[in-house]
Amino acid sequence: MRVLVTGGAGYIGSHTVLLLLEEGHDVVVVDNFSNSSPESLRRVAALCSRAPRLYRVDLLESEKINQIVRDLAPDAVIHFAGLKAVGESVAKPLSYYRNNVTGTLNLLDAMESAGCRNLVFSSSATVYGESTELPLVETTQRSATNPYGRTKLHIEEMLEELAAADERWSIAALRYFNPVGAHESGRIGEDPQGIPNNLMPYVAQVAVGRREQVNVFGGDYPTVDGTGVRDYIHVLDLAAGHLAALDYLTDRTGSFVWNLGTGEGSSVLEVIQAFARAAGKDVPYQIVDRRPGDVAENYADPVKARLELGWKAERGLEQMVQDMWRWQENNPYGFPEEASDSYDNDELNEQLLKAASTVQSSSKPNNEGNQK
Ligand code: NAD
Ligand code: UD1
Repeated sequence: MRVLVTGGAGYIGSHTVLLLLEEGHDVVVVDNFSNSSPESLRRVAALCSRAPRLYRVDLLESEKINQIVRDLAPDAVIHFAGLKAVGESVAKPLSYYRNNVTGTLNLLDAMESAGCRNLVFSSSATVYGESTELPLVETTQRSATNPYGRTKLHIEEMLEELAAADERWSIAALRYFNPVGAHESGRIGEDPQGIPNNLMPYVAQVAVGRREQVNVFGGDYPTVDGTGVRDYIHVLDLAAGHLAALDYLTDRTGSFVWNLGTGEGSSVLEVIQAFARAAGKDVPYQIVDRRPGDVAENYADPVKARLELGWKAERGLEQMVQDMWRWQENNPYGFPEEASDSYDNDELNEQLLKAASTVQSSSKPNNEGNQK
């Protein structure tokens, strides 16, 4: 199948592109590198000895997107591209609506005019807002507490209305819980810009010595040890969920929604302790005030995805932190920095082909972290 992946150079996108290539799919990536770099895809190509086709383009450039979708005629699109920082979305709501909502509209228009109507969309457990009915089931009422969450909610609604209006569309919205971990090679992983907003990358940066200690947001929640509980899911399990959704859509039309979570919650302290064991060192922390907008606990009901997609998360917290640590230890400052416009599309694609033809001398990860 030919799959167009928007945001394919990013954290979840790069792991999914790798899995798609390993499964023999023909992959086209569209990314503007606003929160990633082509290096992730060079490493993907080297890992599986296959190259995706890459276009550096912004979803807001509607003409270019139209042309790419028309020329390449993908069988399906997986749509990861979006801005995702909750705090930033509060400070810059218009950028979030423009990038996420208008970007998605442009993509849908391009798909419509090219006659490609199979879409898998990255939604988020954020659409459950502050719901405290646990576990969170797909039918739980949706709400949003910030502009980022509202973009996901609006897009979900748009997609449902589109599928209701035109029965040729097949659309899956996947509600991710808390994606963490990295590919087991330690070659690709999450590379947050600036101070990480999310717990696991912050813990990883403390363990590697880039930050002093973890600030634990609240120690008085009504949970197992007073700290917040979340459903962490390994990024490779998440990637597999996308392939299962693509498969499901091949002979069905309509709009569908699935939680992608493990169904198990872990507290902040459990995460810190597991990480410390994986890294073989102490991870210092202090309990500070609660973060506004946080709920005490949330975790998925993953049953719908298991029954309908035949998918379930296979990896537990120990593996998540081990893989995350391998990536962080080998790339303490993430991917090497490079200007996003260093190369044109032809050069980028040549690099990917070259990376794909490089024989990996050893499966042992290289230490290539640079200083940022
Ligand atoms: P990421 O930032 O690593 O990846 C997103 C990619 O999209 C980046 O490579 C970025 O450069 C690209 N992009 C952004 N706007 C673009 C545009 N206008 N045109 C072209 N490319 C653009 O993020 P991620 O963690 O891989 O998340 C992928 C998707 O999953 C996002 O939509 C995010 O909202 C959603 N999601 C992520 C999480 C999480 O915790 N990581 C949780 C729930 C949902
Ligand atoms: C956050 C976002 C959510 C988004 C998700 C994935 C908020 C309020 N929610 O969810 O919209 O979909 O990320 O990107 O920002 N914690 C600490 N110290 C830290 C960081 C986090 O104690 O430095 C705690 C939090 O209070 C929470 C847990 O760790 O209990 C997980 O936090 P985080 O990784 O930010 O994810 P969510 O809050 O679930």
